[in-house]
Amino acid sequence: MFPLRINNVSKIFKNSKGQEFKAVDGISLNIEPGKIYGLLGPNGAGKSTLINMISGLLLPNQGGIELFGLDVVKDSNKTKQLIGVVPQEIVVEMAFTVEEVLYYFSGMYGVPRHERKARIKAVLEDLDLADKMHERARNLSGGMKRRLMVAKAILHRPKLLILDEPTAGVDVSLRQRIWALIRRLNAEGTTILFTTHYLEEAEQLCEYIALVDHGHLIKSGKLKDIQQEFSKNSIHFELFDRTAAPLTGVSEVGVEYEYPITSDLATDMAKLTSHYNHNLKSIRSEAASLEHIFLKLTNSGLSS
Ligand SMILES: Nc1ncnc2c1ncn2[C@@H]1O[C@H](COP(=O)(O)OP(=O)(O)O)[C@@H](O)[C@H]1O
Ligand SMILES: [Mg+2]
Repeated sequence: MFPLRINNVSKIFKNSKGQEFKAVDGISLNIEPGKIYGLLGPNGAGKSTLINMISGLLLPNQGGIELFGLDVVKDSNKTKQLIGVVPQEIVVEMAFTVEEVLYYFSGMYGVPRHERKARIKAVLEDLDLADKMHERARNLSGGMKRRLMVAKAILHRPKLLILDEPTAGVDVSLRQRIWALIRRLNAEGTTILFTTHYLEEAEQLCEYIALVDHGHLIKSGKLKDIQQEFSKNSIHFELFDRTAAPLTGVSEVGVEYEYPITSDLATDMAKLTSHYNHNLKSIRSEAASLEHIFLKLTNSGLSS
C-alpha cells in the first residue's frame, strides 16, 4: 500500500486582484513506503499548498489524496494520526512549557498515557532539547522552536513524516542534525517526504524526487535515473602536454578539454585514453546536477 497517493489534485486561490489562479495544477504522485522523497521547486511553486492539502489544512478544489489507503478529507480524523507534519512556519504554543506542549500532542495523537513521559524524554534527548523540557516555548531560540516542532511531529512515531522546508534559514549544525534525524528515522522504516528549494540538499538526501514549478509536476522518479537521463554527455579531462595533436571532436574549455560522448561512456573513455595515453593528467565525467536538470526542464534557474 502506498503511504501517499495524490491523484490529479488542484488548488485554486484568488490573487490580490481577485483573479483566480491555480497554485497546484493537476498533480498526481505516488509515494512508496520506506523511501526519502524530495518535493522540489522554487519559492511559490506550490509545495506548501500541496503539503497543506495532504495534512488536511486545505481542501483541494479537484482530485483526491489518500494516506495509507484512507481519504484525507473523508477520513481526516484517522489520516491525521498516521502522519507527522512539520510545517514551514514556526507554530509553537508559546505560553506552555516544552513538556506540556509535547504531553498535549502525545495525547492528541493517541500515545498511550503510560508511555507519554518516556516518549517525550527520548524525543527531547534525540533533538538535544532535554535541558529545555521545563522552559516555556516562547523562551526558546528559533532553532529550538523548530526542533520542538519536529518533536511534536514524531512523538507518535508516524509511518510517514512530512517536513516542509525543514532547513530553510537554519544554521549549519541544526541542518546537519535534521539531516541525521531524517536519515535515522528513514533507516528505522519511516517514509519521508520533505520540501526544499535547496537542490544540493535534495541531491544528498533523497532517493526519489518530484520537481514542481508553477503548480505543475514537471518530473518525478528516482534521482539516479533522472540524473542519468539528463547526464551532461561529455567527458572532461586535462593534459600534461597541451601541444599534443587533438583527438577529433575535442574542444578546449579553459584549462580543461571536453569530449562529447557519442556512443557510451566506456567506449569514449577508451578512445580518449588510447589517443592521449600517459599525457592524460585527469579525467572526469559528472552526473548532471539537479540545478542543471531543473534549468533544462524549465529554462529558468532556482537559486536566482
Ligand atoms: N492562502 C493563500 N491565498 C492566496 N494565495 C496563496 C495562498 N497560499 C499560497 N498562495 C500562493 O500560491 C502559490 C504557491 O505558494 P506555496 O504553496 O506557498 O509555494 P512554495 O511552498 O512552493 O513556495 C504562491 O503564488 C502563493 O503566493
Ligand atoms: Mg513553501
